[in-house]
Amino acid sequence: MNKLLEVKDLTVAFPTSNGEKYAVNHISFDLFENDFVGLVGESGCGKTVATQTILGIESPSAIIKSGSCLLKGKEILGLDDKQWAPYRSRNIATVFQEPGSALNPLIKVGKQIEEVLKIHYDFDKKKRLDLVYTTMEKCGLKDVESLYHKYPHELSGGMQQRIVISMALIANPNVLIADEPTTALDAKVQSQIIDLFKEISHIYKGAIVFISHDLNLIENISKKVMIMYAGRIVERGLTKDVIDSPLHPYTKALLKAVPNYKKRGQDLYNIKGRVPDLKNRSNEGCPFADRCDFVMDKCFKTYPATTYRNDHEVNCHLYGE
Ligand SMILES: Nc1ncnc2c1ncn2[C@@H]1O[C@H](COP(=O)(O)OP(=O)(O)OP(=O)(O)O)[C@@H](O)[C@H]1O
Ligand code: SF4
Ligand SMILES: [Mg+2]
Repeated sequence: MNKLLEVKDLTVAFPTSNGEKYAVNHISFDLFENDFVGLVGESGCGKTVATQTILGIESPSAIIKSGSCLLKGKEILGLDDKQWAPYRSRNIATVFQEPGSALNPLIKVGKQIEEVLKIHYDFDKKKRLDLVYTTMEKCGLKDVESLYHKYPHELSGGMQQRIVISMALIANPNVLIADEPTTALDAKVQSQIIDLFKEISHIYKGAIVFISHDLNLIENISKKVMIMYAGRIVERGLTKDVIDSPLHPYTKALLKAVPNYKKRGQDLYNIKGRVPDLKNRSNEGCPFADRCDFVMDKCFKTYPATTYRNDHEVNCHLYGE
C-alpha cells in the first residue's frame, strides 16, 4: 500500500499562565491510499491543533516542540507560507466546519473552484470548466453551469459545503482533512453531506481524515479510527474493532456516552469530570487518570507504552505486561 503521509512524534505546545503546555503530545500516525480515518475525542483534545499544524495553518502562538511530517517522503512540517503553496489544495486539502468562512463572498462559487485548478495546473479554459462541472456533479450539485455564476450568499449552507468539498477535491489531493464538516449544518443536510463523504470515499484514491465528536457517525463512515484524549492518541484500529471491543477506558466511556449507541432506552452515561484545561495538564502519567474508574498508582507516574493486538493499539496500563 502506498504511504501518503507519515506523522511522527508531533508535539505542539502553547504558552499558558502555567508555562508551556502540550496541546498535542507525541502523536504519530500514517495515512495510506484509500484510507478513511476518523479522529475522535471530546472538545479540547487537540484534534484541530494537530491537523492544523500538519497543514501549516497553526496559530502563530503554537510552538512545534518535536515531530516530522512527511508527505510522500517530503518534510512539510514547519514550511513557511510560500514553501507550502505548491502543496496546499494539490497535495493536502481541507474542509472545515463553516463553509461560509472558506468561501470568498465576492467571487462566484464556480470561479473559486476553478481558481484552485488554475494555481496548480496549466489546463486550458475548456478543460478547467469540464473538470469544475464534473467535480461539482460528483459532489451532488445540479444545474452546475448556472450554479457556477452564483455568489456564496445565494446558496444554502449545505450547497456551500458541497462547493467547499468540490474545491477540496478538484486538484485530486493526496490527503483530505475534514474538521467537523457537518457540525454547522442542520440535521437533514448533515446526513446528506455524510452520504456525500461515503460516496467520495468509494471514488477517491487519497486518504481522508474525518474529525468528529460523534462515534455513531464515525462508525457509519470510516474504516479506521484514532481516539484522542488531552493531546494523545490513546487507542486506534479498525473502527469495527475499536467500537465492538474498545480497550481504553476513555473509549469505553465515550461509547457509553453516545446517544442511542446499541442501548436504546437506557439512561445516557456522562463521563465524569472534563478534559483538563491546557494550563492544568501534567506531562506525567496517563492524562485520563483523574477521570478513570480503573486508575492505579502507576497511572499517575508513567505514560503507558503502546500495546498491540494485531492492528488494534492502545496506551493504557491495564494492558501489556
Ligand atoms: N491558539 C491557541 N492558544 C492557546 N491554546 C490553544 C490555542 N488553540 C487551541 N488551544 C488549546 O489547545 C487544546 C486543543 O484544542 P483543539 O482546538 O485542538 O481541540 P479540538 O479537539 O479540536 O476541540 P473541538 O472538538 O472543540 O474542536 C485546547 O486545550 C485548546 O484550548
Ligand atoms: S493508564 Fe490507568 S488511568 Fe490511564 S486509562 Fe489506563 S487504567 Fe485508566
Ligand atoms: Mg476542533
